Amino acid sequence: MPKAYQVYQRVLQVGRVFLNRPKADDREVASSLLELDQANFALFAREVGINSSKHLRYTVLPLACLQPPIGPVLHQMLAAGASFAEAQKLLSRYRKRTLGLAELQRAAQEHTWRALLAARRATPDWANRPVWIFPVDKRARAYEGLNPTIAEELVRRYSQPGELVVDPMAGKGVVVQKAQKLGRQAWGSDIAGDGRLVQTLDVAALVEALGEEVADLLVLHPPTFAWFVRNVFDARVEDPPEADYTNWLSQHLGYALPVLKRGGRLVLIVRPEHKPRPLVRQEGILRWAFVAPLELLLSEHELEPVCYHLAVSEDGKEDWSIFVGRKP
Ligand SMILES: C[S@@+](CC[C@H](N)C(=O)[O-])C[C@H]1O[C@@H](n2cnc3c(N)ncnc32)[C@H](O)[C@@H]1O
Repeated sequence: MPKAYQVYQRVLQVGRVFLNRPKADDREVASSLLELDQANFALFAREVGINSSKHLRYTVLPLACLQPPIGPVLHQMLAAGASFAEAQKLLSRYRKRTLGLAELQRAAQEHTWRALLAARRATPDWANRPVWIFPVDKRARAYEGLNPTIAEELVRRYSQPGELVVDPMAGKGVVVQKAQKLGRQAWGSDIAGDGRLVQTLDVAALVEALGEEVADLLVLHPPTFAWFVRNVFDARVEDPPEADYTNWLSQHLGYALPVLKRGGRLVLIVRPEHKPRPLVRQEGILRWAFVAPLELLLSEHELEPVCYHLAVSEDGKEDWSIFVGRKP
């Protein structure tokens, strides 16, 4: 049994005997103990075998006194191995409303409260804001990689433990790593895969390798527009690069989508292009040519929109548009 939980249970057990109230529930025992005068409380602490009565008075017993809905969630975490310090930090963030109940319940079920604390330490409450302001990771940025904090949040939000997460443009495999860490099954491949964590495979051959409708979550993080212009765009082709990029993305999305189960989620991560572009006339409307390639792209594939996140790094130098859709 986890150490903190052992202490927690022993305190309540000894408390019941000390108060001579064998049938009282945990909360009643804890609040009655907190009402004892100093001398009796010291006697009780000695009975439990804990030197610091402060720890009992300000940590263990107040946790036992917590009402639903937060009380049972924190007790579940203690039983699963959380320390008193972790339970207290989570409680404090819950009270300050920087962590929601649903998030805590999920962390209790999935045993991921440590990741929750680590992410919040970096930027309190970043993933609950309308725009995700995420901590900088210069290593990932250097190769257009997905920021690890974002990768973890996406896997946690849009898949369940045991489900299969597939990333066919996995780069160095950050999504695969986070998915495995969170108890998901994971497949990562990339045209330039290293053959270990990430298989070497063109996304065009993904269905052949995995079969149809196997993935619960499909993460697609294609090369950026800047990379596309440098590496793929052929100036002899008449289409402007913007339109060509959208076609290219659409084609690659088309390769990957068949592996997704019906009802499965697609997370598409793209970097919007902000440089001013000429105005074009489209369906009678004058608009920027590169306003929102995502919308153009997604209109060609049958996906139900679930959510659209905007993610910007804390230093403002990196941003991603993240579309989440559901395959009907
Ligand atoms: C933006 S990066 C993804 C980075 C990855 N999410 C990470 O954090 O490491 C895009 C990736 O797409 C890969 N790629 C480009 N064309 C591909 C293709 N046809 N099939 C599979 N992967 C491809 C590139 O090699 C690159 O690693």
